[in-house]
Amino acid sequence: MQEYREFLAKTLIDETALQNRIRELAEEINHDYAGQDLMLICILRGGVVFMVDLMRHIRVPHVMDCMAISSYGVGARASNGNVRVTYDLQNNIAGRNVLIVEDIVDSGHTISHVLEMLSTRNPKSLKVCVLLDKKERREVPVPVAYCGFEIPNAYVFGYGLDIDEYYRNLPFIGIVDLEKYKGNTE
Ligand code: PRP
Repeated sequence: MQEYREFLAKTLIDETALQNRIRELAEEINHDYAGQDLMLICILRGGVVFMVDLMRHIRVPHVMDCMAISSYGVGARASNGNVRVTYDLQNNIAGRNVLIVEDIVDSGHTISHVLEMLSTRNPKSLKVCVLLDKKERREVPVPVAYCGFEIPNAYVFGYGLDIDEYYRNLPFIGIVDLEKYKGNTE
């Protein structure tokens, strides 16, 4: 596997900035849901790292669940609107305060579909918490209640976001230099 430093164009958000902002988001959530019960829903797989760090700072009582969505065609870098659920929630969300936790909103198709689907299950409330928002790429409007960072339209990786499924473990968000990235086949 190629060493990320070989194709890192620049670090967009370093580890300290990420962790500081995540702590701030958690405090907003602690404030807004004070005295209530919360269900965090992680959108696999990109949302995992963010969700784990975020929930460590959430002090309101909460449970967690996960769902997986398939939206991009093979090798594509943007959703095409053809969104489907590949792994559904294991819990009933009726009457619960649901907070969807996602790594990035790009076109908006994924979150829009998730919101549409979950709203039919009668949650008490339904909101979105996203680490990164590529606003200029939006194709469908989505209500984002909690946003970590607005970012430019660059190919970003790390902290849950993959390149060909690798590099999700990196503790920062980097921008890929596509001319230097050779591709990972395994
Ligand atoms: C990414 C990301 C969001 C979605 C955002 O998922 O995690 O779910 O794309 O794009 P959109 O706003 O254009 O719909 P991806 O399909 O890459 O899967 P992953 O989370 O498993 O990496």
